[in-house]
Amino acid sequence: MLALVTQPGQTDTTRIEDIPSVDVREGEVLVRTLEVGVCGTDREISEGLFGIAPENERLLVLGHEALAVVERDGYGFTRGQLVTATVRRSCGHCIACAENAPDSCLTGDYSERGIARLNGYARELVAEDPEELVVIPTSLGRSGVLAEPSSICERALRHVRAIGGRQPWQLERALVIGAGAIGVLMTFLLRLAEIEVWTASLEPENELVERCGAHYVSTRDTELAELGRFDLVVEAAGNAPLMAQALSLLRRSSIACLLGIDPRKQKIELEGPVLGVDTILENRVLFGSVNAQRQDWLAAVSDLERARDRWPEALEQLVQLRVPLDRFAEAFEHRGGKATLVLSD
Ligand code: BGC
Repeated sequence: MLALVTQPGQTDTTRIEDIPSVDVREGEVLVRTLEVGVCGTDREISEGLFGIAPENERLLVLGHEALAVVERDGYGFTRGQLVTATVRRSCGHCIACAENAPDSCLTGDYSERGIARLNGYARELVAEDPEELVVIPTSLGRSGVLAEPSSICERALRHVRAIGGRQPWQLERALVIGAGAIGVLMTFLLRLAEIEVWTASLEPENELVERCGAHYVSTRDTELAELGRFDLVVEAAGNAPLMAQALSLLRRSSIACLLGIDPRKQKIELEGPVLGVDTILENRVLFGSVNAQRQDWLAAVSDLERARDRWPEALEQLVQLRVPLDRFAEAFEHRGGKATLVLSD
């Protein structure tokens, strides 16, 4: 069967390959991939900067943002049901993974579908552990491909609430930096919670952000510091200088959450008193968040449905490019909203 593969650690090795057909073992559910989303992590893997092939293999099948359909009845699933699947799987030997929280794995020995040690969904068929499958309501249809990036936002917000909730605090005003898929989905989730949201990025305008009642700010003509202070700043642009600046945009007792990745080697500047005085005297927190656990996936699916009901077509419009597998290069080059690879109609 056809698959999108890459050789982790090597640049320019991403290609379509005919790989052996799937071997379905007892206890597994056979699913057919409909579509996979492409994100910065896929690009990094493809540039040889990230990713680990399964044990004793040279190639890794990409695809961790999956939308699939169940092929055969069994293990609580019925043929034709839409599903997605969690990305990170237990390391098998830490207390976080033992408590079904591999998103907080303490060893780093976890596997991640399409990223580390486990082949992904960019292939025609996948045999999956039913415990890792998450049902996508038929009403969500192809927008179910947004479940994975939404689960990342849900996990981040769950942690924001836990951190904020350690002391009296109100989440009333939030800034989201970056208007790629994560930035826009985060904006949707915050707006669903009726929070005043400001979303900033380089582009002159963003209709989707404004449609859900958030304020859009182009950083070409407005400085973030002009927007006032926030109870929450989410950095989803992947820009380390902005991550540092986030600390200076916080109100008392507030939180900066980092979701974007910026691997560039660089020195970044921060006004000394922002860290040495304000962060302490105003009880501010800066934290990073990655991955998601099952409860976040379930929250993501439910909130995607709420978002679709509230802002019809916004989710469809967030997926800006859908191309067949053999045009993967176009999806990898796409910036802005989500690009996906379609494997089956
Ligand atoms: C994925 C996460 C994953 C992370 C690091 C992200 O793109 O959404 O599920 O944990 O990459 O591998």
